Parts: sequence; C-alpha cells; structure tokens
Amino acid sequence: MQHDFDALIVGSGGAGLWAALELSRAGVRTAVLTKLYPTRSHTGAAQGGVCAALGNLEEDHWEWHMFDTVKGGDYLVDQDAAEVLAREAVETVIELEHMGLPFNRTPEGKIDQRLFGGHTRNFGEAPVKRACFAADRTGHMILQTLYQQCIKAGVRFFDEYHVVDLLSEGGELGSGGRAAGVVAYRIADGELHVFNAKAVLLATGGFGRMFRITSNAHSLTGDGAALSYRHGIPLEDMEFYQFHPTGIYGIGILLSEAARGEGGYLLNDKGERFMERYAPRLKELAPRDMVSRAEYIEIREGRGIGGKDYLYLDVRHLGRAVIEEKLPDITDFARIYLGVEPLTEPVPIVPTAHYAMGGIPTNLETEVVRDDVNTVVPGLFSAGESACVSVHGANRLGTNSLVDLLVFGRRAGRRMAHYVRQVELPHSEPGAALAVGAEIQEIRERPAGESVSRLRTELQATMMDHCGVFRTSEMLSTALADVRSIRQRYGGVAVTDKGCVFNTELLEARELGYLLDCAETTVVAALARTESRGAHSREDYPERDDANWLKHSLAYRGEGGPELRYKPVSITRFEPKPRTY
Ligand code: FUM
Repeated sequence: MQHDFDALIVGSGGAGLWAALELSRAGVRTAVLTKLYPTRSHTGAAQGGVCAALGNLEEDHWEWHMFDTVKGGDYLVDQDAAEVLAREAVETVIELEHMGLPFNRTPEGKIDQRLFGGHTRNFGEAPVKRACFAADRTGHMILQTLYQQCIKAGVRFFDEYHVVDLLSEGGELGSGGRAAGVVAYRIADGELHVFNAKAVLLATGGFGRMFRITSNAHSLTGDGAALSYRHGIPLEDMEFYQFHPTGIYGIGILLSEAARGEGGYLLNDKGERFMERYAPRLKELAPRDMVSRAEYIEIREGRGIGGKDYLYLDVRHLGRAVIEEKLPDITDFARIYLGVEPLTEPVPIVPTAHYAMGGIPTNLETEVVRDDVNTVVPGLFSAGESACVSVHGANRLGTNSLVDLLVFGRRAGRRMAHYVRQVELPHSEPGAALAVGAEIQEIRERPAGESVSRLRTELQATMMDHCGVFRTSEMLSTALADVRSIRQRYGGVAVTDKGCVFNTELLEARELGYLLDCAETTVVAALARTESRGAHSREDYPERDDANWLKHSLAYRGEGGPELRYKPVSITRFEPKPRTY
C-alpha cells in the first residue's frame, strides 16, 4: 500500500512528537510512524528532570549551563550546538509548562528545580539547582503532554508500523540523493507500506540493547542509526556510550540520579561515601562517567558490598516526605524488583548502559550531514538520542537528554516545515519495497538456523564485558572478533514463527541486525581512539590526548566493515582544560 505525506516522523518519543506538533501547527501534512504505541516511547522512562537555567531557586545563567555541558562532555562537544541547547532550554521548558506539563512547584508556584550531576554555578564553583522535574517521572509527563498536544493538532499516527527501510531519489542518501520516504512493516499483518514524503525525521532513540545490563527498553535497537548507515551516512562518535551509575543490581533498570540530587549517598562495603576520594568537590554529583568508573574501581578493589559486584545507594536520611513527594517511582522500583525498602534499607546498584552520545550526524538545524565538511542530505533530518548534533561530546550530563530532544525536536519541526515548501513530492520506484521485502521473507522462510535470542545474548555479553566502562586494546579486539563472528552467524538466522500476524520474533531478528551495525561501529571507533576521554576510558591510554584526538569520529559502512574518518570539533568559547570536579 502507498501513502503520500509532506513530512514523516519516524519514532514517537519527545523529539518526534515535538517535531510533529510544529509541522501540524504549520499546516504540513504530517505522519508519525512508530513501532510501539506512542506513549510507550522511551522518553517516558526518563525520570529525574529536564534542565534549563531558569534560576527559580538560585542565580543561574544559560552560559553556565553551556560551560557545564562542554566540560561535562570532556570538550568534545560542538560549542555552537551547546550554546543553542543552553539558550533554547529556557524557552522550551516554559513552552512545555504552558502546554500543561505538571511540574513540581516551589512554595511561590514556580517550577521547582533540583541538583543534578555536573551542573554548576559560576563555571564550576558549586552545584546549582537547574533540573526542572515532575517527581521522578519527568519524561512520562513530557510524553503525555506532547502526545495530547499532537492529538489536539490533528497529527496522523501510524502505531505499530515498524520502519524497515529508507527511500531516496537521485542516488543513495550518502552520495547526493535526497530523502523520499520510508518502507514500513505493519506489525498487525506483516504487510509492507510505502510512505512517500518530502522530508523524513529519524527520531528512533538509542541502542542500549546491545549491552547485557541496560536501562533501555527492549525497543532501543538503533533502527534509524543502522538504516542510515546502510544507505551511506556515517555514524558519529559511536565510541562514546554512557553508563549511568545507579542501575538496579542485576537488571539495570534506572534509579534516577535525582536520588543523589536530593541528597542520597553512594556507599561501599565499609560504609564510606567513596565519591569523596574521586571528586572531592561534587562527590556523588560528579558527571556520570566519573561516578561509574569510581564504582567499578571500588568493586575491583574489593570494596563492593560483602565483597560482591555491587554498591549501595542510600536515601534513608532523606526521610519519608522527600521520598514520597520527589522520588516515588524509583523507590517503588526498589521495592518491586529487589524487595528492598528504601525508607529503611540501602539499595543495591551497579552502572547500567544508558545513553548513546554518538549517532546520526546533524547540523544545528537537525539536517543530516554526510561528511567531514557537513554536506547536507536533502530532506533527511534526525533529532533526539538517534542524532549526534553534538551537544554531549564524550559524556552527557544528566537531564541534558530531555532538553536535547525538546530543543532539537522543535528545531526539526520548524526546519522541516520550511523545507517541504521548497520541494515537490518525490515518487518512489514501483519496486521500492522489494529489496527489504525479500530480506524479511528470506528470514521468515528459512527452515532452521541460528536463534535470534542466542545471538543477541552473546552480543550483549561481549559488549558488556569488553566494551563497557573500562576498555583496553585486548578487550576491544576480543569484542570485535565476537561481533564479527556473531554477524556471520546472523546470516543464517531463522525464526520459529512463520506467520504474518504480530510476528515479533521476525522483527527481533531484524532489530538484531541493527544492533550488530551499532555494536561493530562502536567497537571499531573505540579501538581506534587511543586516548581516554569522557565515557571512553582506555586503561592502556589513560590520558586525554587533545593533540591527536580532539576530533569527532565518522564510521562509514565499507566492504570489510566500518571505515573511519574524522572531523573537527567546533570550539567557540571554552578552550579545553583538565577536567576536575
Ligand atoms: O537519572 C536520571 O534521572 C536520568 C536522567 C538522564 O539520563 O538525563
């Protein structure tokens, strides 16, 4: 079946929904395609807050926010992008408030704000309350608010349509062609649908499911990143993957940094607040890369709880009122998943794979760019975690993900509305869906072969064990050999469900292919980067090396695997300095 729209949004998280809202308000025929139901998008799992220098409780300025973002990202952040983020954070949060988002309030009725890691006053002097929040379900509230606004604005939703290919006109997307639409698999009956469009936004989120322990939902499989990579677009800064310091021990579900923002402690087996040794000024509120490394060092040196591989998050001293008013969900998670009562007991935690700093390269207008001089791919856009603009550099600060998707989702919608007025609707070839249809059919019809879940488990294990918080050349070489061997076996993957109705096993097979692309580019870029910067911590190269590595990586799909090129970092205001907290 064929559909014609002026603009397509792939993914219905915060970035996709805000873009759709802008487009609809501008009178552009817009459709949102999601493999889920929109309010199940992963933005809804974000907990602790969205930052903006509102200064509601203490003095704050967007320049301080910009500086913290640049320093937090270990100076790999593009500073022109960080300036946009910090400036526009303020107006987007206020706009959300006016849309009806139920933020917590100060006694005077202003949006309440709390501390979060790496956010400081006066260029690093002391922590500042910058995170605006709705208890510990801020992302959930953002998603509900934007979805309601989209419904009101008449946005057309195609729920449970899994986008499986990108279409172009005038050549491949990576070599001069323009975006022309997508092919989507309707999950209800397995039918392929061709959507023609003038502009396509990829807002498909991250790919945390390539790791064994992750805060990411099962749906986070890098679909947009892998599809654009397959069409010749490079993936930027894939070696930088964030581990959040407080995942629930054993399962990785997030326990928000807000617990530490409200005053919670991290404790080792001796009952020490060990962060005092690693970040004497900010302690538990140091950036995540530092806290996650400190936790692994404590565990390695035998100070895990009972000598085991976990530590404690302790919020007992905060008292019932703070916990119930500001941290209700995460304390319930501890009760439900661990049987631990946070009012009276410390909670076992470990680092959990959380966020991709890298992704599809874009410019400040969210247009996808395909090379080291930022040549635009006409009609193709990306925003949110799937994109690399790059505002997070080598390490993202907590609460900067929500503000990234709001600021750049809004920018995407505005830019796309402008773009679609300049061009005609492209027309896809009659056989546009044939190639991807044949790939899907081949997997469905293969009588027997490798199991999806076994291959995925092996991939997640090697990525966790060899490409996690600490890395060496030896570990990364092992990971690369494993990923390539799994990729080879993936060529013979088979499914037991041969049907067309809600065949989730078939879609998981497809998603595993995307995860393999993300994993291989991550490992190849990590192996090449012989320095330590932000979340990329090489024990064999422990220092940051600005002389050789103050540059973004671009991983292109090549014959024998990813091929790397590099492009410069935009430095406008803050020269790189040693990063201490
Ligand atoms: O800890 C948290 O609430 C997560 C926030 C984020 O990743 O920005």
